[in-house]
Amino acid sequence: MSQKPPPKQFIKTAITGTKSTILISSAKGGVGKSTVAVNLAFALQNLGLKIGILDADVYGPSLTKLLDLKEKPKSQDGKAMSPVEKYNAQCMSMGLLVDEQTPMIWRGPMVISAIRTMTQKVLWKERDVIIIDMPPGTGDTQLTFAQEIKVDGAIIVSTPQDLALLDVKRGIQMFDKTGVKILGLIDNMSFFKGDDGKKYKIFGESGVEKTAKEFNKQFLGYLPLHQDLRNSADIGDPLTHSHPDHEVSKLFIEIAKKIMASLN
Ligand SMILES: Nc1ncnc2c1ncn2[C@@H]1O[C@H](COP(=O)(O)OP(=O)(O)OP(=O)(O)O)[C@@H](O)[C@H]1O
Ligand SMILES: [Mg+2]
Repeated sequence: MSQKPPPKQFIKTAITGTKSTILISSAKGGVGKSTVAVNLAFALQNLGLKIGILDADVYGPSLTKLLDLKEKPKSQDGKAMSPVEKYNAQCMSMGLLVDEQTPMIWRGPMVISAIRTMTQKVLWKERDVIIIDMPPGTGDTQLTFAQEIKVDGAIIVSTPQDLALLDVKRGIQMFDKTGVKILGLIDNMSFFKGDDGKKYKIFGESGVEKTAKEFNKQFLGYLPLHQDLRNSADIGDPLTHSHPDHEVSKLFIEIAKKIMASLN
């Protein structure tokens, strides 16, 4: 019987100033990666962890909006930058460095260089974990993280729709091939609870959990489509930070506990 070759080994640089680094990923766009990334980060803060959030979406940064960041990162020596602080989280995003409405018309090598800068030239301090909000796809940013940066694991977010799951499968295989551990899969926008108390499964049912089983990965949980989650994102104060007792925040905290357990 032929054996699978081990994943190719790369020399990887750890992000200094943090104990753990976690990627929040999905090959598909618009499934809620950024929303899940910030809410998970504050769920981990709720559990007592010191958090950092790095927005690795160079073309479409969203952290400045999600956390209502106004300050610019400062540099003492013109080489390294200090992250911006908000709600006791250290934050970095391309959105802090360029005007919000300026489109990033960059080729791949410039994106790779931006990722290197944000991971190696930012003075992250005393963090337990840095949550990295990834752009959609399996492109330059994903490859740079997988090959050059020491990460403790990736979490894949998806809606339970067939169209999204196809991309999830591609994402799983990319991480498996590059030797990045997948900590688990999250089913976002799983259902909408109407005023009648009924759960409406708009994007289908259990697709993410089934995919997790198929690829032998941990399934981390279901998150509903909820207006409070969208509202809190739009006002720049994540639900798990502003309302940690909210029913949806509690789901994030349960997922955060599973993530902490799989890091140990
Ligand atoms: N569970 C949810 N309930 C309600 N709204 C949600 C939920 N998850 C995400 N959203 C909303 O859906 C939209 C897309 O979410 P988000 O920007 O987090 O997705 P993304 O995967 O990061 O997108 P991109 O691929 O463009 O980076 C946003 O308006 C967000 O507020
Ligand atoms: Mg995003």
